[in-house]
Amino acid sequence: MILEEKLKSEIRDVPDFPVPGIIFKDITPIMMNPVLSKEVLEELKQSVLDLGITKIAGIESRGFLFGYPLAMELGLPFVLIRKKGKLPYHKVSHAYALEYGQAEIEMHIDAVNETDTVLIHDDLLATGGSASAAGQLVNNCGAKVAGFSFLVELEFLGGREKLLPFTENILTLVR
Ligand code: PRP
Ligand code: MG
Repeated sequence: MILEEKLKSEIRDVPDFPVPGIIFKDITPIMMNPVLSKEVLEELKQSVLDLGITKIAGIESRGFLFGYPLAMELGLPFVLIRKKGKLPYHKVSHAYALEYGQAEIEMHIDAVNETDTVLIHDDLLATGGSASAAGQLVNNCGAKVAGFSFLVELEFLGGREKLLPFTENILTLVR
């Protein structure tokens, strides 16, 4: 079975979470499958090897799950993009609209700089609000966005369109 099919069979659709009308894509069964987790990591690694990345930024919280292992696998620094009020040091921040509700994300001011080309990683691309806000944060620090990577893309929400102004390198394992 190809990786996309394996992932589709493991990712659990949970209707009406966290609010009615949303079908939540639950990736926790992937984490409970270490063999599949390794395959995911290897596929992400191979797909981003040629992008000239200097750092990987993971979007809280589920973007940390594969983002940090990927950074270690590639021998690159990992930086945290977190929800408002979670990071202790001086920060840059950006407000954005979610698939459900509103949010503001932050990153330490010295996490990336103008010498960096950054891969932004998250578990899921939905409306693209989170990832484009992350791209804005990275740009605000003077760094370039080398690419985006996600496990899952909900194509019908058109999030990819929001990311194209940053880069055409948008990798998704499941669509
Ligand atoms: C979910 C998901 C992505 C984001 C995608 O995170 O993990 O980060 O929403 O939506 P978007 O493309 O419309 O921005 P959520 O805010 O639920 O938080 P979590 O990862 O901490 O569970
Ligand atoms: Mg998230």
